[in-house]
Amino acid sequence: MVILNNVFQPSYRDADKAHIGSMDQYHKLYEQSIQDNEGFWAEQAERLHWYKKWDTIKEVDYTKAAIKWYEGGQLNVSYNCIDRHIEAGHGDQTALIWEGNNPDEDRSLTYNDLLSEVSKFANVLKAHGVRKGDRVCIYMQMIPELAIAMLACTRIGAVHSIVFGAFSSDALRDRINDSSCKVLITQDTGVRGTKQDIPMKVHGDHAVAKTPSIEHIIVVKRTGADVEMQNGRDLWWHEEMEKVDSNCDPEHMGAEDPLFILYTSGSTGQPKGVMHTTGGYLVYASMTHHYVFDYQPGDIYWCTADIGWVTGHSYIVYGPLSNRATTIMFEGVPNYPDFGRFWQVCEKHKVNIFYTAPTALRALMREGDDFVTKHDRSSIKLLGTVGEPIKEPEWTWYYNVVGEQNCPIVDTWWQTETGGILITPLPACTPLKPGSATYPFFGIQPVILTPEGEEIDGNPAEGLLAIKDSWPGQMRTIYGDHKRFFDTYFAMFRNYYFTGDGAKRDEDGCYWITGRVDDVLNVSGHRLGTAEVEGAIGAHEAVAEAAVVGFPHDIKGQGIYAFVTLMAGVEANDDILGGIKQKVRDLIGPHATPDKIQFAPALPKTRSGKIMRRILRKIGENELDSLGDTSTLAEPAVVDDLVKNRK
Ligand code: WTA
Repeated sequence: MVILNNVFQPSYRDADKAHIGSMDQYHKLYEQSIQDNEGFWAEQAERLHWYKKWDTIKEVDYTKAAIKWYEGGQLNVSYNCIDRHIEAGHGDQTALIWEGNNPDEDRSLTYNDLLSEVSKFANVLKAHGVRKGDRVCIYMQMIPELAIAMLACTRIGAVHSIVFGAFSSDALRDRINDSSCKVLITQDTGVRGTKQDIPMKVHGDHAVAKTPSIEHIIVVKRTGADVEMQNGRDLWWHEEMEKVDSNCDPEHMGAEDPLFILYTSGSTGQPKGVMHTTGGYLVYASMTHHYVFDYQPGDIYWCTADIGWVTGHSYIVYGPLSNRATTIMFEGVPNYPDFGRFWQVCEKHKVNIFYTAPTALRALMREGDDFVTKHDRSSIKLLGTVGEPIKEPEWTWYYNVVGEQNCPIVDTWWQTETGGILITPLPACTPLKPGSATYPFFGIQPVILTPEGEEIDGNPAEGLLAIKDSWPGQMRTIYGDHKRFFDTYFAMFRNYYFTGDGAKRDEDGCYWITGRVDDVLNVSGHRLGTAEVEGAIGAHEAVAEAAVVGFPHDIKGQGIYAFVTLMAGVEANDDILGGIKQKVRDLIGPHATPDKIQFAPALPKTRSGKIMRRILRKIGENELDSLGDTSTLAEPAVVDDLVKNRK
């Protein structure tokens, strides 16, 4: 290991066989990817099996938010993730290792097993009327049937919409209705940490009471808990699987046919159904997984994310399986049964590549090194992070204690919208700087813009992060609302994709993500819109008005700070406080519960009635000396009260 001015050049165990072995090689391929962009992406697409090759590589017009890759090509995602590996003689290789929440439970599926399960479930879906293009909602905890259901959808060309298992029944209902899903797949109850009976089916029932499009609920028996099954509508997964054949021909899908919808938060109260399509997404997920994690045959790869978020889609299921990886799926949490759980699983399954979120590292770091060091981690060669800015303390701890200074850390920056990683180190060559995602991936052209949309050339630079040109993994639209797609990402700056993040570029050209510049929070790596949380708080009968901002939180990265004005004549009390939190859990889910609620007689507003969020943000962040100009406020005295009663 070499450290120079806080730049780390770790020795990487697999450097000799790494896919990209030197910065020279990176620069050369990067240059090629930009100079001959279409040639580059044509070559990269060959990593997949196509029934029919594309007619054109890319057709992109950002002025209309029109994006197409590999138009005319035909392929099937499940075929690429399963069948072709079996045809090449690897059917007995382990595809998926499932590690249960309780340490005595695990399961593993070979590629042969996966093919048979996926084909059977595809036949179950077909038997119940699911056809190409139909939407299927999946609301589950991290159990193997979740991955099987996803791949089964892709086999027949159905479009999955996975809703994170912590979302409430109301949030589930809205997402089902937004894309008119035909079937809901869930489980009886779920287990996670000390919670042994998360009422998944009950939530499903509540949601489906108001979703006219749902014809069936298919229920996996995970715990055996008693659940009500409605005759004709509800079906047990295991019973249906017994009735069908284990062969199902993969549907030939167009490259631009929808693959999945995944709801994410934006700056309005209404979640966006981010839509990805088949060919470009899979090329990009597969290729980034190959290079960024330097996946080598035989490696045991573990991404700890939940498949309810995009990281699980791209880097537990589609990227790894398309590369014939052995991928781990973990049902549990980092602190159950104790804070050594991650490292115990690494030891048990001899994990080589480990990918997690900074929030988990911050939580574990506080508990001391013994939980780490008591487990043998000698199998690990590479570490990764995603989801939020990683700061120096947790980076250094990860590097020194978990990796024993022998493992590069890939700090990967990307978004639900981007489909895969856009800015990242490559393990065998990139000099690492704690907190920097370093350099763009092949084919990606990040730029830093001024608020007026001028590109800032030269280094260093700081401003708004946008991407020039397209890449195959880019989202194609917001389901049912193409105008919102255009308005959100392409209207502000002509001919760029605007990320919503701020960034700095240092003297060496390395990128440092500074966080969201819009009204989106990042709480423990979960994306939440302030407007969504405000809407939920505002639904409480005692609330007149609410404004939500983020504040720095030791473990979550950002916490949720809510300023609440009650109806005239209503006195704040603990019942109302508890009631507001419960409202948020009911309407969104427990992950959106505010950490701090401050009751205020009024919120700071301009004379035209607009809430001055800038001031609330500063109060939330405890930066009281820099509240800025408050003279344009309708009632400047409001601010004094807010400051005095700050939580
Ligand atoms: C943030 C998760 C700093 C960023 C894959 C982005 C990061 C948002 C990083 C997307 C990183 C993600 N460093 N910030 N390495 N990775 N982010 O859609 O603000 O859940 O815009 O996708 O997470 O969150 P999303």
